[in-house]
Amino acid sequence: MRYSPLLLGLAGCMSGMDMTTDSAADSGGDSGTDTAEPAAPEACGYTAMPDLDPADGAVEVNLTASALAWDPGTGVPLEGGMAFNGSVPGPVLEATLGDRVTVHFTNDTSIEMSLHWHGLRVTPEMDGIQQMMGDPIEPGESFDYTFTLQDAGFYWFHTHMDTATTIEAGLYAPIIVHAPGEVTPDCDQPVVLDDVLLDEDTLQISPPDTSMMQLMGRLGTVLMMNGRSDRRVSWTKGQTTLLRFVNASNARYWDVYLEGHQLTVVGTDGGFLAEPYPVDDLVIAPGERYMVAVEATGEPGQSYRLMNKRVQLHEEGGDMIEVDPLGNGENPVATFVYGEGEVTGTGWTQPTPDVPTWGAPVANLGHHWLLAEDMMGGTVNIDGASWPDVPMVDVAQNVDTTFEIENSSEMHHPFHIHGNRFQMVEVGGVAVPASQGWKDTFDVPPRTTVKLVSDLDNPGEWMYHCHILEHADKGMAGLMTVE
Ligand code: C2O
Ligand code: CU
Ligand code: CU
Repeated sequence: MRYSPLLLGLAGCMSGMDMTTDSAADSGGDSGTDTAEPAAPEACGYTAMPDLDPADGAVEVNLTASALAWDPGTGVPLEGGMAFNGSVPGPVLEATLGDRVTVHFTNDTSIEMSLHWHGLRVTPEMDGIQQMMGDPIEPGESFDYTFTLQDAGFYWFHTHMDTATTIEAGLYAPIIVHAPGEVTPDCDQPVVLDDVLLDEDTLQISPPDTSMMQLMGRLGTVLMMNGRSDRRVSWTKGQTTLLRFVNASNARYWDVYLEGHQLTVVGTDGGFLAEPYPVDDLVIAPGERYMVAVEATGEPGQSYRLMNKRVQLHEEGGDMIEVDPLGNGENPVATFVYGEGEVTGTGWTQPTPDVPTWGAPVANLGHHWLLAEDMMGGTVNIDGASWPDVPMVDVAQNVDTTFEIENSSEMHHPFHIHGNRFQMVEVGGVAVPASQGWKDTFDVPPRTTVKLVSDLDNPGEWMYHCHILEHADKGMAGLMTVE
């Protein structure tokens, strides 16, 4: 690698070149250039929700969910679409570590809702679960979500009722939590990955699929970055670049790479890593996040595609034959287009993470989960039962605790635990480097056991579930009490 792990790009100020990218730039791509080309690439960056509270240490935003027929890039707006603040994904909830956040949420749709702040250690009342379990935000109603940010990094929020329909419809958005004093990279780019399953004739979101398709994992027909299949983003040679990936798909595992560029993983679900590591391509399970630094070494005038390689959800040679509507090859997701000229990138310094490492195995076993599929019954279950009948897991607060997730089924399940942070210790008996950092969502491969450890510092009653949304909606979910 050409840079030290904690310092990406060259320190110092920008060169005399005109920087056209700006982290606060409009991601709509419809401003700023005078070219006649209709398809001028949009600027790198994102749109954040305006902070209504001028005070330091407090962020206050308005958020509305409503119906919106949005165009995934096919030219045909989706009649069943929904959006936060009129865009898919919704605008970024942007704040700084330690901030007190207030989200004034209004449900302007015709269905009941709750919201979940995936990966943030909030209080149980604000986690979206209590509403889901009995006090939903009704159509026309408002609710204030409030929480204090305890972790810097990249998170996301989404609806938490009828998720296979509402997240597919577009109700998801990124959360960026800056570390205090963090220097912003030249190009700070959320990359929200999603696929929608469209009817081939109408190009509308397909009506509910067979329960077998839901069980196997509903794979979409259109791959999108930030809600479009045709995104083109402008880059400048030499810029410091941070890509923040989240997989918002219902079931699809992604395996992405960027033509002509090396990816360096600098952060995962729960923030930045002490030891970044290079990868050629990156597998991202539903719900997971990866922060990736890229050296912008491309040539002016050239384009480089973000590509996705097919990942099989089911094990090779099993009973089920899995068909991906996109085929078995690779598919383009988005294009990064280098403009003219070159810059000396700003010195983005990766925030120093707070990731303790457990030197020795933690003997205290909190729980051993068993994930199983009953193909005949068409169900997926945990510990032999389905929500809400999965037995409660009880564990002690502030005690280092190991968890095991055993997957006896023949397909991958991305297992997500709310409310606390975890580190992966072992996958299938093989140790995971401690440098993996904090996580909240774990790929559990077929017929494999994954071991986790946690400090369990956040008390409450927390939900855990498979993040294949059809599985979660079918009851592959339970509750864990930390007290
Ligand atoms: Cu991202 Cu309970 O979910
Ligand atoms: Cu979550
Ligand atoms: Cu599952």
